Amino acid sequence: MKTVPIQPSAPSIKDVQHYLRPGTLQLPALPPLSLYVHLPWCLKKCPYCDFNSHEVEGEVPQQPYLDALVADLDAALPLIWGRAIHSVFIGGGTPSLFSPQSIDQLLGAIRARLTLEPACEVTLEANPGTFEKDRFRAFRSAGVTRLSVGVQSFNDAHLKALGRVHDSAQAVAAAQEAAMAFDTFNLDMMYALPGQTLEQMEQDMVQALALVPPHISIYHLTIEPNTYFAKFPPRIPDDDSAYAMLDRITEMTAGAGMERYEVSAYAKPGHRCWHNVNYWQFGDYLGLGAGAHSKLSFPHRIVRQVRYRDPKLYMRNAMAGQALAQDDEVARADLPFEFMLNALRLKDGFTPAQFCERTGLAMSAIEQPLQEAERKGLIERDLARIRPTQRGFDFLNDLQSLFLAAP
Ligand SMILES: C[S@@+](CC[C@H](N)C(=O)[O-])C[C@H]1O[C@@H](n2cnc3c(N)ncnc32)[C@H](O)[C@@H]1O
Ligand code: SF4
Repeated sequence: MKTVPIQPSAPSIKDVQHYLRPGTLQLPALPPLSLYVHLPWCLKKCPYCDFNSHEVEGEVPQQPYLDALVADLDAALPLIWGRAIHSVFIGGGTPSLFSPQSIDQLLGAIRARLTLEPACEVTLEANPGTFEKDRFRAFRSAGVTRLSVGVQSFNDAHLKALGRVHDSAQAVAAAQEAAMAFDTFNLDMMYALPGQTLEQMEQDMVQALALVPPHISIYHLTIEPNTYFAKFPPRIPDDDSAYAMLDRITEMTAGAGMERYEVSAYAKPGHRCWHNVNYWQFGDYLGLGAGAHSKLSFPHRIVRQVRYRDPKLYMRNAMAGQALAQDDEVARADLPFEFMLNALRLKDGFTPAQFCERTGLAMSAIEQPLQEAERKGLIERDLARIRPTQRGFDFLNDLQSLFLAAP
């Protein structure tokens, strides 16, 4: 096996005192903490995907990777001493490539080191191409409470154009099994697909809703830099057609009793994704695994960390207690934009108390851009909440950029 050197310049997790030293921020309380675990392998790389996912060569090295995750967690523990975990999200890549026994081992190692809140949501992402009878139930027995099934479309031609490893029948079977094995589950869908018409998108939604999912995430297909699609762009619907599709999606989901509670997320009452809501409310998360991102608050600072992206390099460095490739304090001037990048994705927006508690800043820090956003009809506010208007949702980038720090 080729050996991968440990990077000598790696910013290893510093002594916790380093993060606790005095600073200009005063956070009155630490936010809820979530745990993200990244499993970076897939059967095949999809041509649109820029996630840190790698086509598996031979067998997935499940045990060495689990060992690295546990070493990584052990090294990070001092940064989150005494804090309970409110949600766990096992994402990828294709986590369902890992066996239920491996997921059981992973969750066991997490529970042995951290206190999970009694109602802790534990999501696992699953690909219909890795679906076998009884596998989903075994994930449930391992402690997973919520499955997120990557369906994308139910149209075989579109699934092929997206380079997916499964067909529509497999997607339906996986969603049906998820419904039987779990109290709550999500379907990941995409729209504005290569050559897709409004009618085809409607058929996708009719099929999705027939499976009675408590939650759907629907993303506009984006052509990301450094993907196969960026090099060989497919013909995709124009902006007007994509807007018309989004309107229909919102109508059809509302007709099925689902609320668009976030720009891309629709849920029945009681089925919002707690983990993602914590991200959008500018909560904290510790990310373990190759390329995983963390956001951690301390009384006088907020820190962002990124772990090594390459799985082999990550495993090697994590075993040596040096999984971090980047470790930076968020500049005070960047906090308003960082907060808004998340909070304005939520239909319910945020409360002034949340802004002050999560950023350590006073409301006066955003009064000017708030007034401008209100004047442009992009937000509405009362004493209790500040929320995006429909126009704000439609022009979210414009709205968020009002909060960028002055250069
Ligand atoms: C990290 S993927 C995980 C799910 C799993 N790997 C799968 O694809 O089945 C999360 C979701 O992001 C969405 N996604 C990924 N790349 C995208 C792109 N370029 N444009 C829009 N949505 C994308 C897909 O809906 C995907 O299910
Ligand atoms: S299966 Fe998911 S993570 Fe893997 S390449 Fe495809 S979209 Fe990306």
